[in-house]
Amino acid sequence: MAQISDTFRKEFPLPDLAATARLGKAIAGGLGVGDAVALWGDLGAGKTTLARAILQALGVTEDVPSPTFTLVQSYDTAPPVAHYDLYRLKNAREMAELGLEDALDQGAVLVEWPERAPEALPPEALHVRLGIAEGVRRARVTGPARWAKELKNLIHV
Ligand SMILES: Nc1ncnc2c1ncn2[C@@H]1O[C@H](COP(=O)(O)OP(=O)(O)O)[C@@H](O)[C@H]1O
Ligand SMILES: [Mg+2]
Repeated sequence: MAQISDTFRKEFPLPDLAATARLGKAIAGGLGVGDAVALWGDLGAGKTTLARAILQALGVTEDVPSPTFTLVQSYDTAPPVAHYDLYRLKNAREMAELGLEDALDQGAVLVEWPERAPEALPPEALHVRLGIAEGVRRARVTGPARWAKELKNLIHV
Protein backbone atom coordinates (compact mmCIF):
# COMPACT_ATOMS: atom_id res chain seq x y z
CA MET A 1 0.00 0.00 0.00
CA ALA A 2 1.53 3.29 -1.03
CA GLN A 3 1.43 5.96 1.63
CA ILE A 4 1.78 9.71 1.19
CA SER A 5 5.06 9.51 3.06
CA ASP A 6 6.47 6.88 0.66
CA THR A 7 8.87 9.33 -0.90
CA PHE A 8 11.73 6.85 -1.07
CA ARG A 9 11.37 4.41 -3.94
CA LYS A 10 14.12 2.27 -5.40
CA GLU A 11 14.65 -1.14 -6.92
CA PHE A 12 17.61 -3.33 -6.01
CA PRO A 13 18.75 -6.46 -7.86
CA LEU A 14 19.31 -9.44 -5.54
CA PRO A 15 21.20 -11.88 -7.79
CA ASP A 16 22.64 -13.84 -4.88
CA LEU A 17 22.55 -14.24 -1.11
CA ALA A 18 25.39 -11.75 -0.69
CA ALA A 19 23.21 -9.05 -2.29
CA THR A 20 20.39 -9.88 0.13
CA ALA A 21 22.89 -9.71 3.00
CA ARG A 22 23.97 -6.22 1.90
CA LEU A 23 20.37 -5.02 1.69
CA GLY A 24 19.67 -6.54 5.10
CA LYS A 25 22.67 -4.79 6.62
CA ALA A 26 21.61 -1.44 5.17
CA ILE A 27 18.06 -1.81 6.47
CA ALA A 28 19.36 -2.90 9.88
CA GLY A 29 21.41 0.29 10.05
CA GLY A 30 18.27 2.41 9.84
CA LEU A 31 16.07 0.42 12.22
CA GLY A 32 14.85 2.11 15.36
CA VAL A 33 12.10 1.70 17.93
CA GLY A 34 8.69 1.94 16.22
CA ASP A 35 9.96 0.95 12.77
CA ALA A 36 8.21 -1.69 10.71
CA VAL A 37 9.58 -3.49 7.68
CA ALA A 38 6.88 -5.14 5.56
CA LEU A 39 8.27 -8.06 3.55
CA TRP A 40 5.99 -8.74 0.58
CA GLY A 41 6.35 -11.56 -1.92
CA ASP A 42 5.21 -15.07 -2.79
CA LEU A 43 6.36 -18.25 -1.13
CA GLY A 44 10.09 -18.58 -1.83
CA ALA A 45 10.54 -14.92 -2.77
CA GLY A 46 13.23 -14.48 -0.11
CA LYS A 47 11.36 -12.78 2.75
CA THR A 48 12.80 -14.93 5.53
CA THR A 49 16.26 -14.71 3.97
CA LEU A 50 16.11 -10.91 4.12
CA ALA A 51 14.73 -10.94 7.68
CA ARG A 52 17.61 -13.25 8.63
CA ALA A 53 20.11 -10.88 7.00
CA ILE A 54 18.69 -7.94 8.97
CA LEU A 55 18.87 -9.89 12.24
CA GLN A 56 22.38 -11.14 11.56
CA ALA A 57 23.49 -7.57 10.85
CA LEU A 58 22.10 -6.65 14.27
CA GLY A 59 24.35 -9.27 15.82
CA VAL A 60 22.14 -12.36 16.04
CA THR A 61 24.46 -15.36 15.81
CA GLU A 62 22.00 -18.11 16.73
CA ASP A 63 19.74 -19.77 14.21
CA VAL A 64 17.02 -17.50 12.78
CA PRO A 65 14.13 -19.89 12.15
CA SER A 66 11.19 -18.99 9.96
CA PRO A 67 8.33 -18.16 12.34
CA THR A 68 5.95 -20.12 10.11
CA PHE A 69 4.20 -21.89 13.00
CA THR A 70 5.01 -19.68 15.98
CA LEU A 71 3.94 -16.60 13.90
CA VAL A 72 6.41 -14.46 15.84
CA GLN A 73 9.97 -14.81 17.04
CA SER A 74 11.57 -12.12 19.20
CA TYR A 75 15.21 -11.09 19.37
CA ASP A 76 17.03 -9.27 22.13
CA THR A 77 18.92 -7.00 19.74
CA ALA A 78 19.35 -3.23 19.81
CA PRO A 79 16.70 -2.23 18.93
CA PRO A 80 14.74 -5.33 19.94
CA VAL A 81 13.22 -6.98 16.87
CA ALA A 82 10.09 -9.09 16.54
CA HIS A 83 9.98 -11.14 13.35
CA TYR A 84 6.45 -12.06 12.23
CA ASP A 85 5.21 -14.49 9.60
CA LEU A 86 1.45 -13.96 9.24
CA TYR A 87 0.85 -16.57 6.53
CA ARG A 88 -0.99 -18.88 8.94
CA LEU A 89 -2.79 -16.13 10.82
CA LYS A 90 -6.37 -17.24 11.45
CA ASN A 91 -8.25 -14.14 12.53
CA ALA A 92 -8.13 -10.70 14.14
CA ARG A 93 -8.26 -12.19 17.62
CA GLU A 94 -5.11 -14.18 16.99
CA MET A 95 -3.50 -11.03 15.58
CA ALA A 96 -4.31 -9.15 18.81
CA GLU A 97 -2.58 -11.92 20.78
CA LEU A 98 0.62 -11.45 18.79
CA GLY A 99 1.33 -8.10 20.46
CA LEU A 100 2.50 -6.21 17.40
CA GLU A 101 1.62 -2.84 18.91
CA ASP A 102 3.66 -3.61 22.02
CA ALA A 103 6.51 -4.83 19.86
CA LEU A 104 6.47 -1.49 18.01
CA ASP A 105 6.45 0.39 21.33
CA GLN A 106 9.56 -1.48 22.39
CA GLY A 107 11.40 -2.04 19.16
CA ALA A 108 11.21 -2.79 15.46
CA VAL A 109 9.12 -5.38 13.63
CA LEU A 110 9.76 -7.38 10.45
CA VAL A 111 6.52 -8.69 8.94
CA GLU A 112 6.27 -11.44 6.33
CA TRP A 113 2.83 -11.70 4.63
CA PRO A 114 1.75 -8.20 5.73
CA GLU A 115 -1.31 -8.56 3.46
CA ARG A 116 -2.79 -10.87 6.14
CA ALA A 117 -3.09 -7.90 8.55
CA PRO A 118 -2.43 -4.68 6.61
CA GLU A 119 -4.09 -2.48 9.24
CA ALA A 120 -1.51 -3.61 11.80
CA LEU A 121 1.32 -1.81 10.02
CA PRO A 122 2.22 1.76 10.94
CA PRO A 123 1.81 4.26 8.06
CA GLU A 124 5.55 4.94 8.05
CA ALA A 125 6.52 1.33 7.36
CA LEU A 126 9.32 0.45 4.97
CA HIS A 127 7.86 -1.80 2.27
CA VAL A 128 10.09 -4.35 0.58
CA ARG A 129 8.49 -6.18 -2.34
CA LEU A 130 10.49 -9.24 -3.31
CA GLY A 131 10.03 -10.91 -6.65
CA ILE A 132 11.59 -11.96 -9.91
CA ALA A 133 11.66 -9.67 -12.95
CA GLU A 134 13.27 -10.76 -16.23
CA GLY A 135 14.70 -13.78 -14.48
CA VAL A 136 16.45 -11.74 -11.78
CA ARG A 137 15.47 -11.49 -8.14
CA ARG A 138 14.67 -7.94 -7.14
CA ALA A 139 13.57 -5.90 -4.15
CA ARG A 140 11.31 -2.92 -4.79
CA VAL A 141 11.65 -0.74 -1.74
CA THR A 142 9.37 2.14 -0.77
CA GLY A 143 9.10 4.11 2.42
CA PRO A 144 9.79 7.37 4.22
CA ALA A 145 12.45 9.61 2.69
CA ARG A 146 14.99 9.00 5.45
CA TRP A 147 15.65 5.52 4.01
CA ALA A 148 17.41 7.07 1.00
CA LYS A 149 20.39 7.79 3.25
CA GLU A 150 20.51 4.27 4.69
CA LEU A 151 20.33 2.56 1.29
CA LYS A 152 22.40 4.98 -0.74
CA ASN A 153 25.47 2.75 -1.10
CA LEU A 154 23.61 -0.18 -2.60
CA ILE A 155 23.56 -0.97 -6.30
CA HIS A 156 20.11 -0.18 -7.66
CA VAL A 157 18.32 -0.49 -10.98
N1 LIG B 1 19.02 -13.21 -3.23
C1 LIG B 1 18.91 -14.54 -3.31
N2 LIG B 1 19.66 -15.24 -4.19
C2 LIG B 1 19.54 -16.59 -4.28
N3 LIG B 1 18.72 -17.33 -3.53
C3 LIG B 1 17.96 -16.71 -2.63
C4 LIG B 1 18.00 -15.28 -2.47
N4 LIG B 1 17.12 -14.93 -1.52
C5 LIG B 1 16.55 -16.08 -1.09
N5 LIG B 1 17.05 -17.15 -1.74
C6 LIG B 1 16.65 -18.56 -1.55
O1 LIG B 1 15.29 -18.73 -1.85
C7 LIG B 1 14.71 -19.73 -1.03
C8 LIG B 1 13.45 -19.20 -0.38
O2 LIG B 1 13.79 -18.14 0.48
P1 LIG B 1 12.92 -17.72 1.74
O3 LIG B 1 13.61 -16.57 2.33
O4 LIG B 1 12.66 -18.89 2.62
O5 LIG B 1 11.55 -17.28 1.06
P2 LIG B 1 10.18 -16.79 1.70
O6 LIG B 1 10.42 -16.49 3.16
O7 LIG B 1 9.80 -15.57 0.93
O8 LIG B 1 9.20 -17.90 1.49
C9 LIG B 1 15.80 -20.13 -0.03
O9 LIG B 1 16.36 -21.34 -0.46
C10 LIG B 1 16.80 -19.01 -0.12
O10 LIG B 1 18.10 -19.44 0.16
MG1 LIG C 1 9.32 -17.01 4.91
